[in-house]
Amino acid sequence: MKPYSYITPLEVMTEDAGIPIERLIKLDGNENPYGCSPRVKKALSNYPYYHIYPDSEQRELRRALADYVGIPADQIVVGSGSDEIIDFIMRLFIDPGNGVVNCVPTFGMYHFSTEAWAGKIVSIPRDKGFAIDVRAVKKALNEGAKVAFVASPNNPSGNTTSREDILELLGTGAIVVVDEAYYEFSGQTMVPLMADHDNLIVLRTFSKWAGIAGLRVGYGIFPENIARHLMKIKPPYNVNVAAQIAAIESLKDLDHLQQTIKVIITERQRLFTKLAGFSRLKPYPSDANFILCSAGSNQATRIYQELRRRGILIRYFDTPLLKDYIRISVGKPEHTDAVVAALNEILLK
Ligand SMILES: Cc1ncc(COP(=O)(O)O)c(C=O)c1O
Repeated sequence: MKPYSYITPLEVMTEDAGIPIERLIKLDGNENPYGCSPRVKKALSNYPYYHIYPDSEQRELRRALADYVGIPADQIVVGSGSDEIIDFIMRLFIDPGNGVVNCVPTFGMYHFSTEAWAGKIVSIPRDKGFAIDVRAVKKALNEGAKVAFVASPNNPSGNTTSREDILELLGTGAIVVVDEAYYEFSGQTMVPLMADHDNLIVLRTFSKWAGIAGLRVGYGIFPENIARHLMKIKPPYNVNVAAQIAAIESLKDLDHLQQTIKVIITERQRLFTKLAGFSRLKPYPSDANFILCSAGSNQATRIYQELRRRGILIRYFDTPLLKDYIRISVGKPEHTDAVVAALNEILLK
């Protein structure tokens, strides 16, 4: 199997580009440029029990999440990032050779985890506007695929999938995983459908909106019986003490974090308008904290390399479906200005 294609760590970038870390502009990981809540830093520096193992059932965090999501704590499972929850889902449902539906192009971990658990990837391409092919996904599920993953908003395209489309997929009775990693930026969720559907799983993360990607906290919202099995098979100490504290403190500081989310959403619009101003770029409308842009044939790598030389890191995917696209995370206003200035140089050449 192919390894997951990870984003380059800052330490490596700074050496490669010969530019000091503080001057790098990191717009390749959909992280929150405003960082975590000040409450997180304070709580982490004051915590006296780092020598004690964490609560293996993450009780306090799951109770806080129950309030935040509006679903009982016994339906919530927390992981070291939602990446780990994706892995748990495979561990529970996938025997070697079982089909997993992947609506491509999309987030790479569904493919990666399927292969790691020896499942069979059923790749179903999205259309030109990146909407999922509901008929084809339903057909694959009706023909025996066990699980379908739908990221909404989708990474890297930024578009959501409608409630009606998700309901159609749920009608097959197969497990449908709606990955809402960017929910806080889209405001759209399938959680209310959980009341009537025992085959719906919703994934969320603290990495994007709460500014704690480095601490790794994600969670899944499950039908109660599935959550019960997952709690049995997950490693006991999968979420460390610092991660649990950071997530709990983030949930206590929603006003502050929602303010930064608002700023990022406003900046998303400004970045979109600026990108649309370049005749050689076509940005796609986004409900997340990044924008996908088509760059014309054979231009995307050049733009990526040229930006990288200037210390600006964006995402380029070296795959057939995405070879002419770049993805830019929404940063601070000064980051948008730097990208636009650099693109002016690069695209006018
Ligand atoms: C759609 C989607 N799901 C999940 C993740 C993983 O998030 P986490 O940091 O919680 O593992 C990402 C991260 O890029 C993502 O884009």
